[in-house]
Amino acid sequence: MAASCTTTWRCAFLALLVLFVSGAHGQLSPTFYASTCPNLEAIVRSVMNTTVANEKRMGASLLRLHFHDCFVEGCDGSVLLDNVPATPTTPAFFGERNAFGNINSLRGFDVIAKIKTAVEQACPGVVSCADILTLAARDGTVLLGGPTWTVPLGRRDSTTASMDLANRDLPPPFANLTSPDGSGLIERFVRKGLSAAEMTVLSGAHTIGSAQCQNYRLRLYNEARIDFQFAEGLKANCPQNGPANDTFLAPLDSTGSTFDNKYYADLTSLRGLLHSDQVLYPQNNQTQVKIVLKYKGDNAAFFADFAAAMIKMGNLSPLTGTAGQIRTNCSIVNR
Ligand code: HEM
Ligand SMILES: *[C@@H]1O[C@H](CO)[C@@H](O)[C@H](O)[C@H]1NC(C)=O
Ligand SMILES: *[C@@H]1O[C@H](CO)[C@@H](O)[C@H](O)[C@H]1NC(C)=O
Ligand SMILES: *[C@@H]1O[C@H](CO)[C@@H](O)[C@H](O)[C@H]1NC(C)=O
Ligand SMILES: *[C@@H]1O[C@H](CO)[C@@H](O)[C@H](O)[C@H]1NC(C)=O
Ligand SMILES: *[C@@H]1O[C@H](CO)[C@@H](O)[C@H](O)[C@H]1NC(C)=O
Repeated sequence: MAASCTTTWRCAFLALLVLFVSGAHGQLSPTFYASTCPNLEAIVRSVMNTTVANEKRMGASLLRLHFHDCFVEGCDGSVLLDNVPATPTTPAFFGERNAFGNINSLRGFDVIAKIKTAVEQACPGVVSCADILTLAARDGTVLLGGPTWTVPLGRRDSTTASMDLANRDLPPPFANLTSPDGSGLIERFVRKGLSAAEMTVLSGAHTIGSAQCQNYRLRLYNEARIDFQFAEGLKANCPQNGPANDTFLAPLDSTGSTFDNKYYADLTSLRGLLHSDQVLYPQNNQTQVKIVLKYKGDNAAFFADFAAAMIKMGNLSPLTGTAGQIRTNCSIVNR
């Protein structure tokens, strides 16, 4: 490459070509730690295996934590940063953990800390928290019966986080499929470079884990497109007026600790738990309905498309090269 770079315009062209081909995630590679931390994947899998054996939901919680990392300024470990209290000379810093959808909801920070400690022991100062989280999300999926995929690695950790961007970019459970003001699920994912079809397959993550009453209450009491018995059953523990039982958990699909395509079957029986789940199976959009019916009828297609979309989501604007840092403690920026 350098040998043929003889004239200025050619050099400029080649530089541009390299930029284009390498793209935003060109430095990510599955073998990134092959020589610097060869046992990384085994270490992550081992901690995840024990964790999920003790509490299945934690596999789901780590999958969600990765999604919430990637949707706010890319997969850079920003979601893991703690709040920092005010000092006499500096204002308080509110991390993404404090954003609307995250506070009293995101889980798994302790698991990431545990994995990080084990990884630091084996290969100090080498592996980013963002990569650990990406691997943990994949392993949580696998351990609950879902598909596996090869994770490109080499992300670095941010030195900042943004509660405001988290509030802006994370989709709320009352979002519609599309919206004239751009707040729809499709528009939110398209802004991140993910298609309507990819949004629909990634929502299949709701085949595992649970949600709190405060996130599905309005659906139970205000919506017509909900199975009657399903709604009545949930109402017993989720009264119309909060704050009673605000945090009462219901599984996101009828097989909440198994990663399978039952989520899509539930949508077709109007048993989606969140408003944002049920709108994926609309009455008035055959293109969208077809995607849901495809995954309902074809678990292998769901698994394959989910894995591909997870890799794409995991590649959202990572920090690479000399950008960012490798945090020593995932909750705090290095001093
Ligand atoms: C499409 C837009 C999405 C919306 C509106 C949404 C919203 C939510 C909400 C409100 C909860 C329950 C939180 C609680 O009650 O504490 C939840 C849970 C969950 N979400 Fe999503 N989500 C979306 C997409 C995704 C994606 C793309 C993934 C991962 C690829 C994902 C993975 C999960 C998982 C695994 C859980 C269960 C977590 C647990 O049990 O700890 N979600 N989501
Ligand atoms: C994973 O956990 C299961 C128990 O759920 C155990 O039987 C198995 O040996 C563990 N595997 C590894 C690699 O730790
Ligand atoms: C979703 O659509 C319904 C029906 O058109 C509308 O009443 C509601 O305000 C919309 N919600 C959001 C968050 O845009
Ligand atoms: C709250 O949930 C409990 C089960 O944990 C249930 O027995 C109780 O009836 C619920 N309370 C209300 C007001 O719905
Ligand atoms: C219908 O669904 C397709 C595929 O999901 C999507 O691209 C399109 O924007 C949707 N149209 C409306 C009006 O919701
Ligand atoms: C990481 O930092 C947090 C916040 O300061 C602290 O509570 C925790 O003990 C630290 N973890 C380790 C392993 O040092």
